Order: sequence, then C-alpha cells, then structure tokens
Amino acid sequence: MNANKTGTELLNDGVLNKGTAYSIEERKCLGLEGLLPSGTEDIDTQMQRVLQHLSKKNSDLEKYIYLQGLEERNQTLFYKTVMSDPQTFIPILYDPVVGDACLAFGHIYRRPRGMYITRQMNGRMAEVLRNWPVKDVRFICISTGGRILGLGDIGANGMGIPIGKLQLYTACAAIPPQTLLPVLFDIGTTNEKLQKDPLYLGLREQPPGTEELDALTDEFVAAVQEVFPGCCIHFEDWKGTDAMRYLARYQDAVLCYNDDIQGTASISLAGIIAALQISGQKIEDQRVLFLGAGSAGMGIARLITHEMQDNGLSEENARHNVRMMDIDGLLTRSRKDLSDEQRIYARDEKSFSNLTEYVRHFKPTILIGVSTAKGAFTNEVVRAMCENTERPVIFALSNPTSKAECTADEAYKWSEGKALYAAGVQFPEVHINGKTLLPGQANNFYIFPAVGLATYVARPSKLTDECFIVAAHATAQQISPEMREKGLLFPGQKDVFETQITTATAVAEYMFDAGLAQSERPEDIRTWLEAQLYSPTY
Ligand code: NAI
Repeated sequence: MNANKTGTELLNDGVLNKGTAYSIEERKCLGLEGLLPSGTEDIDTQMQRVLQHLSKKNSDLEKYIYLQGLEERNQTLFYKTVMSDPQTFIPILYDPVVGDACLAFGHIYRRPRGMYITRQMNGRMAEVLRNWPVKDVRFICISTGGRILGLGDIGANGMGIPIGKLQLYTACAAIPPQTLLPVLFDIGTTNEKLQKDPLYLGLREQPPGTEELDALTDEFVAAVQEVFPGCCIHFEDWKGTDAMRYLARYQDAVLCYNDDIQGTASISLAGIIAALQISGQKIEDQRVLFLGAGSAGMGIARLITHEMQDNGLSEENARHNVRMMDIDGLLTRSRKDLSDEQRIYARDEKSFSNLTEYVRHFKPTILIGVSTAKGAFTNEVVRAMCENTERPVIFALSNPTSKAECTADEAYKWSEGKALYAAGVQFPEVHINGKTLLPGQANNFYIFPAVGLATYVARPSKLTDECFIVAAHATAQQISPEMREKGLLFPGQKDVFETQITTATAVAEYMFDAGLAQSERPEDIRTWLEAQLYSPTY
C-alpha cells in the first residue's frame, strides 16, 4: 500500500482518505488545494452529515448501500459511524439486512470488494492470492454462498456475507480492517433463478462434486498458508455437509474455524450456562434434546458434551445425556442415513417421530430447536417440558422469524413464565404475571469477533473447541443480576464492544495457558490487547 499518495489519488483511496477533515496545512503539503470545499471539519462533524444522510434513506437496504459506499470512500469515517452505535448498525451491516443485500447483490453492485476464487484458478490459487495488495492478511472469511442464512444456495451473491462478517470483526472488536480479506469461493450455483438473472455476477454452472471440491478447497487452504502465513481461515455459510467435513479436515492442521458450527455452539452454550446460573442447576445433570441434527445442531451437541466432560462426566455419559431428532425422527442406531458425526448421538431406542411423545419419554431439561420447523414447539411440547423441570431451557434458534420453533411470547405464555428462552432472532419483550421478560437472541456476534481478537493478538497455532467454551463462559459471566432477573441470557447489545474485549481477554489468556499462543505472553493481557485495537480516528 502506498502511503505517499497525493492529490486525487489520495482522495480516491478509501483507506487513507480523510475528505473534508484535511487541514489547510495538509492540503498544501498533499497537493489537495482546490480539490476540496474550503471548510475543514473534524470527524465528529463528518459523522453528523453521515447520520443525516442515513436518516433520509427510505429502507434498510438503502442504508446498507450507502454505508458500503462510505466504507469505499472513507473507511475511517465508516467505522467511526458504525462503532458509535453498534446496536443500530450491526443489524444493517449483518443479519437481517445483509440477507436482502445478498439477494440483490448483482443488482446493487458498485465496485469489487475482496477476492473471488474459482475452479478455473485450479493450480494457480497462490498466484491469484498474491494479487491482493495487502501482505499481512490475518483473517480470511470464505463462503461458497452454498447455504446463506435462511436463503439456501445463492452462489456468488453470498459475497455480502464474508464482507459483513469481517466488518463486524472491526465494528465489534476493533480488529484492524486492513488485515481482513473477504473471499467468495465461486464454485457455481444450483440456483436456477440466479443462473437466469442477466445481472447475476457469478459462474453460471453447477457446483463440482465432492472429490473436486475437496481438491479445490485443499489447494485454497494450502495457498493461504503459503501467501498469508499465520492467517486464520473463517469458514462461513458453506453447505452443511461440506461445512462439517472441512472443519474435521482442517481444524487440527491449520488455523481455522467454522462460525456456523463453532460460533453458534459457543453462543448457545453461553445461553445454557447463563440459564443454569439462573435456575441454580449443573450442566452435567441436564438432559438435552435437539430438534434438528444439521450443522448447527451437531456443533452445539459437540460443545455441550465437551462442557459436560469438563465437569466430570465420561464421554459416554455426556453423550448419553444428549438426544437428537431430525426430519425423520429420533436418531437411532438402526437408521442407515446418518453421518459419522450424527451416529455419535444415535441411541439403541425405539423410533419416535412425535416430539411431544419423546419429550414425555426422555424428560429433557433443555430443548434446542435448529430444525427450521416453524411452530414445532407447540403448547403441548412446552407444557411437557415444564413437567420435567421447574425452569426448562427452551431455545428456538431457527431463523428467520418465519422458521422459529416457537416465539418468545408462546414459550413464556405456555410455560407460565418458567421457560428460560432464547431465539435465533430478536423477539420483543413479553409481559406476563406482572413481570417483564427479555428474550435473548443467540447471536454469534457475541463470540466470533472476540475469538477473532484473541487470535489476532495471541497468534495461536490452531483454534480448539476449548477456545469456544472459554468464550461461552466469559460471555455468560457478563450478564448483570438485573438482566438475569428478567430472564436475559446474553449480555446487552449496547455494550457489545466492552463485552468482546472482556471475552477476548479470557480467550487469549486461555490460549497462553494452553500453549496455543505464539505471541510472547505479556504481563497484563487486557492492557496489551487494548493497545493493539484499531481506532477510527485520523
Ligand atoms: P441444516 O440444514 O444443516 O439442518 C437442519 C436440520 O433440521 C436437519 O437435521 C433436518 O433433518 C432437520 N429438520 C428439518 N425439518 C425438520 C422438521 N420438520 N422436524 C424436525 N427436524 C427437521 O441447517 P443448520 O445449519 O443446522 O441450521 C438450522 C437452523 O438453525 C436454521 O434455521 C438456521 O438459520 C438456524 N441457525 C441459528 C443460529 C443462531 O441462532 N445463532 C446459527 C446457525 C443456524
């Protein structure tokens, strides 16, 4: 990157540009005289103008487009704005607005961002990665667009996801934006509608079979090690089976993680830890039933059993406390359609396909919905859960809202306020028996920026499940007693920055303790970490 730019070249460089904030003196030195309006402003005044522009936009998608344009023009001002009010801006940069942005990607496209890797680059991926202008890339977020949010396969339109996820690394945890590289692995798409869209920007071909995709992904992972040594690969929104296969394949070999699996598992575990603190129960005494045994469910099940083992249970007993149902009913050993990961949780039991019946039979204390089956947690199911325990934990994590297994209102009403409830989306507060209950949102953004920040400073050789367990505990510890009283299982979104720094400090400390960190251990981890944070100032 050339920091010696002047004149219009400097104004057109979104990373360096300060726009109207250049002083008279700077304008003289940098060949900017006459190229800017006469007034000079500080960044706070510039932000006022941004906020005014945003207030005039008629839709969230328009706000999204404006903010992306702002990042291209003036990255510092962009982060100054979004970091000033994360609660407002996170839902615009990411879920739910990013979903609309992805669907419209080819239509709202302005300028290239990040990198596009295709199967045509086979054998040359390292050479292609060298086209990226920054050498010290510390995180790559890569998606195939194969399973985006609740939108299915949207191919190259999925680029909005790595862009948005990485913007949250900076917005929530102040990781320097220059070290982040969004990548869309354009392997084609099965989406016929997109293939026929004249403005679609991806390859109009069917994705490769497993063998070819494995070879391409192997090459990409190896190329990253060669071109950006020490870079962490964040896999995001790959098709479920691919996601699980690649996590198993690479997690011990290179620095990487899968947020859909490990981030989801960590925030769910954080919610469970917080719920059990409220009910005064122990994780090792819980019986956990999942509705849904896809990538999210398998990841959560794995982390819960790991946590039970950390609390003294044998692997066998921990797994015995977990049962899973999917679209074809209970996972039993007689089923022939299960993956190796699913087989771990299959039991020698008679087959059940009715959820209420199985809740009465197994008597779970925790019920987790990751099934996309709207309304699957009926009044009957919730009441049956209440027969097993005083404070049932009920997480309806499927999103968007139209897929939630039950709403917050339903869970609280049907359980007469007893359920400790969280959802994959944000439901409004519920008033019941004179009490106000605050349903939490199990949002991964509490976890991945913090684990990212710990990784950024501590430079671990790999990320283990334990890193995500530590992140879960640190997150759960940060809920105030007043919030717990209202049933809230996650920290407030307003303080997201403080929360992430505290969680990142705990995870970095664990990385040092476990011998994973490659940085030299500082005396005071938090102070050292804070000194490395990005600050959106000129
Ligand atoms: P997936 O497609 O890998 O798995 C879905 C699972 O649900 C499969 O086991 C399938 O057999 C089962 N299923 C489908 N219909 C069912 C039905 N009617 N009854 C019982 N089981 C049924 O999907 P993935 O990635 O596991 O995600 C599942 C849901 O969880 C999605 O809605 C996703 O948006 C949500 N999710 C929420 C997160 C969060 O809140 N932080 C994070 C990740 C996923």
